[in-house]
Amino acid sequence: MMRGRFISIEGGEGAGKSTMVERLTTWLESRGHRVITTREPGGTVLAEKIRAILLNDDHAELCSQAELLLMFAARAQHLEELIRPALGRGETVLCDRFTDATWAYQGGGRQMPAALIAGLEEMVHGDLQPDLTLLLDLPVELGLERASRRSEADRFEQEPLRFFERVRQAYLDRAAAKARRFAVIDASGDIEQVWAQIEAVVERRLG
Ligand code: TMP
Repeated sequence: MMRGRFISIEGGEGAGKSTMVERLTTWLESRGHRVITTREPGGTVLAEKIRAILLNDDHAELCSQAELLLMFAARAQHLEELIRPALGRGETVLCDRFTDATWAYQGGGRQMPAALIAGLEEMVHGDLQPDLTLLLDLPVELGLERASRRSEADRFEQEPLRFFERVRQAYLDRAAAKARRFAVIDASGDIEQVWAQIEAVVERRLG
C-alpha cells in the first residue's frame, strides 16, 4: 500500500494554525482522504504529558537542553505510536507543528547549536519528513496580540519580542532552504484570505 501523505502546519504564536487545521481536515475528508489530525508536542497520551511539562509556566527553570530533548522525546513517542502506523495504513497525517518548530524555537529562539538539532532529527526520524509544510507567517507583534486575546500565556509566551523575531526568521530561513517542501502563507489577513491560500496550495501540491 502507498504511504499516506504527511502534512505539517507551522507558524508563530497567534498565526491561526488551529482554525486552519480544522478547515483543512474537513476539506481533505470531503475529498475522500482518511485524515489523522494531531499536534506537537503531544498527540499521544505520553507525549501530551511531556507537553504539559514543556508548556507549564511554573517550570521557568527548565533548561534549554532539557527542553530540546523533551521535544524529541515527545516526537519519538508520537512517531512510534501514531504517525508511522497511520502513514503505513495509507492515511493522511495532518500535524500541528513538527521538527521545523524545533529548528525555529530551540534553534532560532533559544539559539541551540544546529548540529545538536540535526543529530536528534536524524536519530528520531531521519528517513521521514513531511511531504508538505504550510508556514503561516505574520508579523510577530500582530501574532502575539492575537494570542494574548485567546488564552493565558504559557511558558513560551513569556519570552520577549526578540525571541519571537528570531523564531519567525528561523522559520523563513528554513522555508527558503527547503522551498520544495514548504509553502509560505501570509497569515496576517482574515480567516477566509488565509484559507484561500492554503486551499490553493494543497490542491496544487497534493493533487
Ligand atoms: P502550540 O501553542 O502551537 O500548541 O505550540 C506549543 C508551543 O511549543 C509553542 O510555543 C511552540 C513550542 N514548540 C517548540 O518550542 N518546539 C517544538 O519542537 C514544538 C513542536 C513546539
